[in-house]
Amino acid sequence: MPPDTPHATPRYPLAIVGAGALGLHFAARLAAVGPVALVARSEARAAELRAGVPVGDAIFRADAFGPDHLPTADWVIVLVKTYDTAAAARTALALRPRGVVSLQNGLVEDVLRGVCAGLPVGQGITTEGAFRDGAGVKPAGAGETLLPPGFEAVAALLGQAGIVARVEPQIVAARFAKLLMNVVINPLAAIFRVPNGAVLEPPQRPLFDALLAEAWPVLRAEGLALGEAEARERVIAVARATGANRASMLQDVLAGRRTEIEAITGSLLAMAGRQGVELPTHRAVAALVGVIEAAGRPGA
Ligand SMILES: NC(=O)c1ccc[n+]([C@@H]2O[C@H](COP(=O)([O-])OP(=O)(O)OC[C@H]3O[C@@H](n4cnc5c(N)ncnc54)[C@H](OP(=O)(O)O)[C@@H]3O)[C@@H](O)[C@H]2O)c1
Repeated sequence: MPPDTPHATPRYPLAIVGAGALGLHFAARLAAVGPVALVARSEARAAELRAGVPVGDAIFRADAFGPDHLPTADWVIVLVKTYDTAAAARTALALRPRGVVSLQNGLVEDVLRGVCAGLPVGQGITTEGAFRDGAGVKPAGAGETLLPPGFEAVAALLGQAGIVARVEPQIVAARFAKLLMNVVINPLAAIFRVPNGAVLEPPQRPLFDALLAEAWPVLRAEGLALGEAEARERVIAVARATGANRASMLQDVLAGRRTEIEAITGSLLAMAGRQGVELPTHRAVAALVGVIEAAGRPGA
């Protein structure tokens, strides 16, 4: 129900904060089988979303809300870019939910926990894909969504919508496995402006090997469950399987947008710092992405 009639707005079983590529993709799937609230950054964007935007081949008219006319919801999924997490978490809290879960890349659970103190919060992972296309969104392939224990109800709602989702008891290990992919593939794709598969080829390959060799021991010490050889095989397999895709960090750089380098490589560097380990190659790629990002911003 649109916020034109806020007093009549029902409590939603699920809300998504962040009406971008993945948020719209998930909301459109969920809305086909039940009510879902989609929270946009502004009232103006919420009005556009209520009027309808293309999601895949169809026009999706969302139950969309801006920050000033929020409904309530049982569960909230946060799907903003990592640098917007704190603001999105404040919005999530205002929905008076039973729990808040992120499916963002990078590591953001501490930010969520800081804002939503006292509520169950968690961070899962998803390999669902979607990208922005004008005012709308195009799906970029189905994947799997893993949620932390305690978010069984969210897994069930996603499952009803045909999104492959389950609670993963070893969610910390799964998150570190995803982070390993992201710290190795994303910065190289963005710096060299190549599709994922090319990070395995020269001249990217020596850097790929160095990033992997530096990251593995740090993540392993934090709870990554993969041995070194298995981790290497997994990252190579993902780079090959998504060989023609443009990593999100490359898409951000090409579009002149801010990247998620701080929540991805920055999280790894923070862990390494706590362990007293230097990661010179990761530090170098983070600096390079920062320079590329700044140069690409409007007015640079
Ligand atoms: N896209 C994928 O295939 C994919 C796959 C796996 C994981 N992820 C992760 O999922 C997260 C979202 O990615 P995305 O590709 O969907 O990003 P996106 O297209 O940039 O969407 C993010 C959306 O959040 C909105 N937003 C920002 N702050 C907000 C706030 N305080 N309240 C409400 N909405 C707010 C943004 O609005 P504006 O447009 O006004 O900024 C934007 O529409 C990222 O962490 C990404 O790494 C994405």
